[in-house]
Amino acid sequence: MAELIVALDVQTREEAVTKVKAIGDGVGFYKIGLELYTAEGPDVVKAVKDLGKKVFLDLKFHDIPRTVERAVRSGGKLGVDLMTIHSVGGKAMIRAAADAAAEFGAAAPKILAVTVLTSMDGADLADVGIVGRTPAEQVAAMAKFAVENGANGLVCSPKEVGSLSKSLAAGTIFVTPGVRPAGAAVGDQKRVATPADAVRDGATHLVVGRPILAADDPVAAAAAILAEMAL
Ligand code: C5P
Repeated sequence: MAELIVALDVQTREEAVTKVKAIGDGVGFYKIGLELYTAEGPDVVKAVKDLGKKVFLDLKFHDIPRTVERAVRSGGKLGVDLMTIHSVGGKAMIRAAADAAAEFGAAAPKILAVTVLTSMDGADLADVGIVGRTPAEQVAAMAKFAVENGANGLVCSPKEVGSLSKSLAAGTIFVTPGVRPAGAAVGDQKRVATPADAVRDGATHLVVGRPILAADDPVAAAAAILAEMAL
């Protein structure tokens, strides 16, 4: 059964706690990203954990292996459940993240790799020296590379999850943003899928922000998405 993660794209700890309480028991998993973490730091992670929720700390680490190892260890101490790294940080960096996470045993945060940012197209890849591969080929290659070197899963677009879930080992985690319930506002997302499609294609976790955060009735909005995920 896939899990719903609500992206806490707000600026203060107070707003975050208010949103989590308003959404209530239906959602047990929240993503804290760069905006909120940079503003509020580990206190906001602790506040969400104290409300009994799981936390996906989406800071996309990309640094030398020792620094990433130590940052993952800090995340493990905070009790976070999912963390992200950039797969282009290389083999040693991915392994360092996986090893640091493993120190937490049954409570180990799962390490997710980002392959190619969905904001980048072929020309952007060429700008940073990646030539001879389309974005889709680069995603597939980096996904395999990350998982082979210890990542537990991937953040990927709902358009990629179908092929990746077929080609990678069973048990790999696939977290997909860009999910919109049928008929919902798309906002700035360009390539979206419905919750039912994403789950059918192999997503294990869906990240949804605005369709729930900005809803007049966030409880009902989350319930509707959970119902679509179960279709
Ligand atoms: O509001 P919305 O549902 O579009 O939020 C999606 C969340 O997932 C945001 O926090 C966004 O930064 C994140 N995300 C994304 N696309 C990616 C990676 C992350 O939308 N490729």
